[in-house]
Amino acid sequence: MAATRQSSFDDPFYQPADQFFPENHKIGLTFDDITLATLYSEILPRNTQLDTTLADGLQLNIPIISSDMDTVTESRMAIALAANGGLGLIHYNMPERQQLSEVSRVKHHVHGLIQEPVTVAPDQLIGDVLKIIEERKFAFGTFPVVDQHGKLVGLLSGHVVKPRYARRKVADALTPRAQVQTIKQKELGKDPIARADKFFNEHLGIHKLLVVDDQDHLRGLFTMSDIERIAQERIAQFKPARDARFHLICGAAVSATRNAFGELDRARILDHVGALVERGVDVVAVSTAHGHSQGVGDTVRVLRDAFPKLPIIAGNVTSAAGVEYLADCGANAIKVGQGPGSICTTRLVAGVGIPQMTALYVCSRTAAKKKVTILADGGITKSGDIVKALTLAQAVICGGIFAGCTEAPGEVIEISGKLYKQYRGMGSLAAMRAGSAARYGQPANPTQKVAAEGIEALKEACGSVDRVLAQLIGGIQSGMGYLGAANLPQLRDKARYIRVSPAGLREAAPHDVVELKTGN
Ligand code: XMP
Repeated sequence: MAATRQSSFDDPFYQPADQFFPENHKIGLTFDDITLATLYSEILPRNTQLDTTLADGLQLNIPIISSDMDTVTESRMAIALAANGGLGLIHYNMPERQQLSEVSRVKHHVHGLIQEPVTVAPDQLIGDVLKIIEERKFAFGTFPVVDQHGKLVGLLSGHVVKPRYARRKVADALTPRAQVQTIKQKELGKDPIARADKFFNEHLGIHKLLVVDDQDHLRGLFTMSDIERIAQERIAQFKPARDARFHLICGAAVSATRNAFGELDRARILDHVGALVERGVDVVAVSTAHGHSQGVGDTVRVLRDAFPKLPIIAGNVTSAAGVEYLADCGANAIKVGQGPGSICTTRLVAGVGIPQMTALYVCSRTAAKKKVTILADGGITKSGDIVKALTLAQAVICGGIFAGCTEAPGEVIEISGKLYKQYRGMGSLAAMRAGSAARYGQPANPTQKVAAEGIEALKEACGSVDRVLAQLIGGIQSGMGYLGAANLPQLRDKARYIRVSPAGLREAAPHDVVELKTGN
């Protein structure tokens, strides 16, 4: 039996990491330079587990993080990532106060609860409401009615939002407050979805439940259809990533901020991170292009001393010495990647950076010794790259893959009938002018003379994060099935590598056919 599972004939060709990378130590390898060998498997892709622990108290249900970039992660993206079991890192290219609100939005987001429902006022005409529905393309017609202080006055049911009543006032058509079903915010408990589900079970024919505070201000809205969808999702394999209080988890990036004298502004960093912690942030990422540097190390040290239990991500590095340094300063997870990003020009501009698989190998061995984890940051364009990265890293960080999603900041742009969203490097001139210059060690108000290390670009609009993640997760599970890996530690343990020739790379993609686009 055992003979069918392994053959020593394979060994010189398909090598484990500790043999393969040292043997290839004279050349920097990236995702497309290598491929993984299949192994005997008893594992079906759909049964593989993707949970990963990045630090004490920081566990994800899928090993995917959205990048702290101003065209990728604000609250909407972070909510979508956490709802799917991953993590979003809110970028810092915004005023500190705004970053705090973005984190609060994620932490207060209750899956299934519409926190800021569209409301109407009692003195509006039904005709005005019809106009709003038309203009904003709402697919619903029932609205809570609130007064100018946000207090609940009633519910305008879709049955009366009809052209024949256009000249009637909302006040004449609404279901009065006393007859509207509500629940107090504080009664929602730890599991608001279960509470709303129970309510709909007990109240036959009621499809909306409004949430109010003690003063009867409207605080949210549950609809039965959302609750039913979520009940379905609950039997799904990958649960949302939540904290101990059942809130979605959220990360925030911070920089090694300097004062007017060029010294590390410890007080400001501590103030801001203290405020982030108060808002419930689950992890901070000290995020710069050169993590193996005094400023980043000192920032991590300051934070570790002040917040002994706070998970800290720091980076970016590509060397064992860099990992060791940041681990010694107190970081729990280290971002690995210099120049692999789809919008990066660091390697062209500075001549610096390491192809990603070699960098990950070098960093992973030291990380294991120092008991920290590593995050593969940048250069990921397909799910196969994620599988390769996860043979060495505990999670991946993606920018470009999510930048075209509905949940990414920014508007959709139409060019020649195609839809795009803006995607720019945090080291591009535009992003540095908006605040990210410190990340690249540049002055706060960079001029054209400053060497940008990133470009401004467009990504084709690609729909919801849910859809993109479903594809990525399917690919990761498929890769794990081929390697007979039931979980991520097994994937790291079992991976066998071989280099790919240019002809092999051509062979790996569809070739010699005319591809049909079916729209799937
Ligand atoms: P992807 O390939 O996912 O890469 O689009 C995202 C990662 O790229 C890094 N990043 C930059 N690197 N110049 C760089 O050299 C830049 O302007 C830049 N902006 C972002 C970052 O690590 C991100 O997660």
